[in-house]
Amino acid sequence: MGHTVCKILIIYHSQSGNTQKMAEQVARGAKSVENVSVTLKRATDATLQDLLECDGLAIGSPEYFGYMAGLVKDFFDRTYNEALERKEIFKKPYVVFISAGNDGTGALSHIERIAMGYQFKKVYAPVIARGAIDQEILEKCEELGGTIAAGCEAGIY
Ligand SMILES: Cc1cc2nc3c(=O)[nH]c(=O)nc-3n(C[C@H](O)[C@H](O)[C@H](O)COP(=O)(O)O)c2cc1C
Repeated sequence: MGHTVCKILIIYHSQSGNTQKMAEQVARGAKSVENVSVTLKRATDATLQDLLECDGLAIGSPEYFGYMAGLVKDFFDRTYNEALERKEIFKKPYVVFISAGNDGTGALSHIERIAMGYQFKKVYAPVIARGAIDQEILEKCEELGGTIAAGCEAGIY
């Protein structure tokens, strides 16, 4: 794709730092792909404009009370209605990463359900970390970022 720059947006929330570590690793993986630019934002700072401008999206959340973090939900709440009027968000490739104490499935399934509403296209298996963030999880996150970035850059999604 020559000089075309593919834009990957990573949005996340993190209270005690675990999801943030994952997000940083997803960003690292995505940045390792040529012709890719990465925007890493806390969900609370992310806007509809960020969504419109990206070519691919990674969403990260801790699981709190069997659900995504409230501030990740807040991002969806703030952007959903307007997003539906902007056809360019449909079919945007996305991936998810979750940090949980011991589960993570509640946060994941609710994010996936909302993503269906936006008609995002899931392009890779989610990463769920249970407990401390170890090297294996960091590597999976890096791979997740690298995969969505490489796919976007190659135009395969
Ligand atoms: C208020 C609160 C609720 C939580 N609820 C769950 C839960 O339902 N399931 C679970 O597996 N872990 C739960 N946890 C553990 C967090 O998901 C886990 O500590 C996670 O790594 C936090 O991510 P963070 O460091 O990015 O904030 C909860 C933690 C907090 C603070």
